[in-house]
Amino acid sequence: MSFDTNPPRIAIYGVGQYGAMIARLAAAKGWPIVAAFNRSGPKVGQDLGRVAGLSRDLGIVVQDCEAGDYDRLDADIGVVTHRDLLRANMDAYRRLMNAGLNIACHGVQSYLPHSNDPDAAREIEALALRNGVTFTGCGIWDMSRIWSGILTAGPCTDLQSIHISSLTDPQGQANSLQQIKQYCISDTVETFHAKGIDQNAAALAKKTIPEMVLRALGYTIIESTATIEPVVYDVPVKTWYVPEGEFEAGLCVGVRFLCKTTTEEGVIGTGRVEQRMFLPGDVEHMYWEVEGTPRNRTRVERLDSAHATAGCLFNRIPDIIAARPGIVPVYELGPLRSTAKRWRSVSA
Ligand SMILES: NC(=O)c1ccc[n+]([C@@H]2O[C@H](COP(=O)([O-])OP(=O)(O)OC[C@H]3O[C@@H](n4cnc5c(N)ncnc54)[C@H](OP(=O)(O)O)[C@@H]3O)[C@@H](O)[C@H]2O)c1
Repeated sequence: MSFDTNPPRIAIYGVGQYGAMIARLAAAKGWPIVAAFNRSGPKVGQDLGRVAGLSRDLGIVVQDCEAGDYDRLDADIGVVTHRDLLRANMDAYRRLMNAGLNIACHGVQSYLPHSNDPDAAREIEALALRNGVTFTGCGIWDMSRIWSGILTAGPCTDLQSIHISSLTDPQGQANSLQQIKQYCISDTVETFHAKGIDQNAAALAKKTIPEMVLRALGYTIIESTATIEPVVYDVPVKTWYVPEGEFEAGLCVGVRFLCKTTTEEGVIGTGRVEQRMFLPGDVEHMYWEVEGTPRNRTRVERLDSAHATAGCLFNRIPDIIAARPGIVPVYELGPLRSTAKRWRSVSA
C-alpha cells in the first residue's frame, strides 16, 4: 500500500489527553479518522473534533466503547490510549483486532508484553496472528529510551554493560492531579507504602527499558528486576496542580526506580529512572552510558514531552501497518522517522 496516496486510516480508543492529541495530529495531516470510542460519559455522542479541542467538527461522533459498531470499521489501525496495563486494555484489543485493525497502544506495559504480563501477551499474540495484524506498544520511550540505547551501543565491538539514568517531569506528561497521584505524588510516604506503589505494575514496566535494548542487541535475557522508592524533598516545590501553587516539604514528590537485567552472555543492563517534581534548573533527560569498546554516552533532552510521546506514537503508525503480524516491539521496527516532510501539517 502506498501511504503517499492512501494515508493511514485510524480509529481512536480512549479520547483523553493523548487520544485527543492523536486526533489533532491526524486532522492536521489529513489522515482519515474513521471512528472514536470512549467509555460512557459526556464525550460520548459529541463530535470528535470538539472533544479533541478543535474549533470544528470532524464528522466523527464519539461512540460508547461498550456499544460501538466494530463490524464496519474501515480502518488500518486502532490507537489505544486509555490504560497502562495490558489486562485493562484487553477489551479494546479484542474489539479492534477482531475487526482486522493493527494496534498502536500507548499503555506502558505494551512496549514489551511478554515480559510484563506473559498470560496477556499470549492472548494478544494469538489475536494478532489469527487476524493477521500487528500489535505494537509505542510512545515516548521509543526514541528517548529504546532507540537512543540501541544507537549508543551501535559502535561497540565488545560490550560489558549498559546503564540508563533519567529524570522526567510528572507535570510534563500528566494533565491532572489525579494522574500523578498514581505514584502518590503529594501524598505522605506512609500512603506511598500503604498503597504498595513499590509493587505498582505500570511503574515496574520501566524495568524492561535496559531489557529491550539488550534484546535488540541480540542478548538472551535471564531476568529483569526492579525496586521502587519514594522521593521526598526538604523544601516546598512549585506546582500548577493545586491552587496553593506548591506541595509542602516532606511529602512524596516522585518515585525512583532502580532496575537490573542479566543476560546469559554476562552483559548487564541497569537503570536509575527518576520521575519527580522538578526543582529549579532541572531538565528532563535520558542519559545512556555504554561500557565496552568503545565507551559511548548519549544524552537526550525532552523539552516538550507530552507532544513527544504523541509524536512518537503517531510517527510509528506507518511502520506498524507495514510490519509482520504478531506482537512487534518498536526495537524491531528500525529508528523512528519523522513525518514532517512526508505529511506536512495543513490545518488543525
Ligand atoms: N507509552 C508511553 O510512553 C506513555 C507516556 C505517557 C502516558 N502513557 C499512558 O497513556 C495512557 C493515556 O494517557 P492520557 O493522559 O491520555 O489519559 P487520560 O487523559 O486519562 O485519557 C484516558 C481516556 O480513556 C478513557 N477511558 C478510560 N478507561 C476506559 C475504558 N475502560 N474504556 C474506554 N475508554 C476509557 C477516558 O475516559 P474519561 O473521559 O471518561 O475519563 C479518557 O478519555 C495512560 O495509561 C498513560 O499512563 C504512556
